[in-house]
Amino acid sequence: MPFFKEININEDTTAYFWKISEAIEWLFENVQLNDKSISRLETMSSIEHKKGFLAVRMLLQHVGFTDSDLLYDAFGKPHLKDKSKKAKDKSILPQHISISHSHEFSCICISNQSIGIDLEKRKEKTLKIAPRFMDVSHLEYLSESDKIVKATVIWGVKESVFKLKNEKGISFPNHISESPFQLEDKKGTVQLHFNEVKEEFNFQFDFVDDYVFVCVLQ
Ligand SMILES: CC(C)(COP(=O)(O)OP(=O)(O)OC[C@H]1O[C@@H](n2cnc3c(N)ncnc32)[C@H](O)[C@@H]1OP(=O)(O)O)[C@@H](O)C(=O)NCCC(=O)NCCS
Repeated sequence: MPFFKEININEDTTAYFWKISEAIEWLFENVQLNDKSISRLETMSSIEHKKGFLAVRMLLQHVGFTDSDLLYDAFGKPHLKDKSKKAKDKSILPQHISISHSHEFSCICISNQSIGIDLEKRKEKTLKIAPRFMDVSHLEYLSESDKIVKATVIWGVKESVFKLKNEKGISFPNHISESPFQLEDKKGTVQLHFNEVKEEFNFQFDFVDDYVFVCVLQ
């Protein structure tokens, strides 16, 4: 399947999803890769990982970017080349990107704001390891299946905050905590208390097939 769907987070922020059903050869033939990406692809041993990487490039092409517009910093955080400086239209703002892949899905989110996203398959294991990354009292009184979903959302929120901030030393259980929210709300707020600075972010989440998608905005 080619492009799967998009989710509008707000007027400046859209997430794009690719559901990978293509053979790796097809994906490889249909994306333009720069030399760095070809070298990176060669280091990946799993076919699933390679396909996820190529599907991200398909999504970039889908929204009018190329692989060469994507740059990574020393920590592995992706950035888009800033085209606003050269643009005649001064209303064009620098664009931010965040990337996630999980099994047969790849996802990119593009925004005028700083963002972090995560896509995570619903699975029991996330609930089992929940005490390692969250306050499990936030799962009280839920059905077993809702506990899995909520733990997955909270995991995704913490991964997304981590991706947005991109700072070494952030601990999921010690520095990131979500305010109480209901699954029906599909949104909430999350606090980061790190290096004696307190920050609050908004998050939204949605469901894509059997996956939980989370986006955190600055
Ligand atoms: C880097 C990290 C966020 C990636 O998340 P993941 O769930 O393994 O994988 P995802 O598919 O969701 O995300 C991968 C993408 O994140 C992006 N990414 C990698 N490092 C990043 C960083 N430092 N900041 C922002 N984005 C980053 C990349 O775009 C990457 O995909 P690409 O290299 O193919 O472009 C994760 O491995 C990590 O280090 N998390 C924090 C670890 C931690 O504190 N865990 C605590 C558990 S209690």
